[in-house]
Amino acid sequence: MGRIIIIIIVVYDAGSKVACGKSRLSTIGNGKIVGGVPADWGQLPFVVALESPRGQQLCGAAILNERWLVTAAHCIGRNKAHQIVAIAGSLDPSSLSEASNRQVSEGADVRLAPGYVEGTQLDLALIRLKRPFKWRNGFVEPVCLPSTKVNTLYSNQTGNKMIDLEDEQDRAINQQTNKILGTVAGWGWNDEDGVNMSSQLHRVQVPLMSRAECEKRFQTAGYSIPIDKTKLCAGWPEGGQDACQGDSGGPLVVAQDGVMVLTGVVSGGIGCARPGLPGLYTNVSYFLSWILDTIKKRK
Ligand code: ARG
Repeated sequence: MGRIIIIIIVVYDAGSKVACGKSRLSTIGNGKIVGGVPADWGQLPFVVALESPRGQQLCGAAILNERWLVTAAHCIGRNKAHQIVAIAGSLDPSSLSEASNRQVSEGADVRLAPGYVEGTQLDLALIRLKRPFKWRNGFVEPVCLPSTKVNTLYSNQTGNKMIDLEDEQDRAINQQTNKILGTVAGWGWNDEDGVNMSSQLHRVQVPLMSRAECEKRFQTAGYSIPIDKTKLCAGWPEGGQDACQGDSGGPLVVAQDGVMVLTGVVSGGIGCARPGLPGLYTNVSYFLSWILDTIKKRK
């Protein structure tokens, strides 16, 4: 009289679902990358450092999902995917005291934005990780992509969803009586000459600037830099706060409906934090469908 007891164990993988754009950065004090402050745990858990295999700081990046990072195309340079080392869960990638939160993976694949050749035109790239990052609450988490969040922010003036997103971005930037503030973060130089450098992740707030105003400011300063819809500008008229060399590829996030949305990717600039010269960013929303296509095709 044998009795068979069948025990069914359902292994439910709850680990792969996580909310994007979480941040303890609700009351954002003003910090410095140039003119910023050191970031704290939980404020920017989607920011990743990109290093060479020898541990040289190259650029910043942001986590989109377990497998994919977004950065600037010029950060890739001549490197092959495996020559780029991504470090997540670390405020100071050069320090080993954070070993418990730290996650490291080389790139397995790199995709440059369609049409990218060099420099700061179409300056966007996606990196697929060799070993996927694991979500760690407050330490390693994804950033939100603009998608629907951007529509709610930029289209509420007209109520029209079929608008040109970039035009609407500009209109919203101009109309805001309160400036739209973004937070940019990275391990780059703390001043234009690279005299002060910090191994700690720094963050700073900068207001978005419309494309027309941005182009005009560069022109006034004697630089002809066309700001088309693939780009975004951010900075204070008086300067003083900005991204700088080494911050490239890092995220410019804007808090929308309580989550951090990846709005720009650090791309270029004339010097750093100079009065009247904003920082140049790649406009993430312009590349949204390419990003989504690429990261969905291969998880
Ligand atoms: N191209 C620089 C880099 O590779 C980023 C320059 C950002 N400059 C600025 N003023 N916002 O790190």
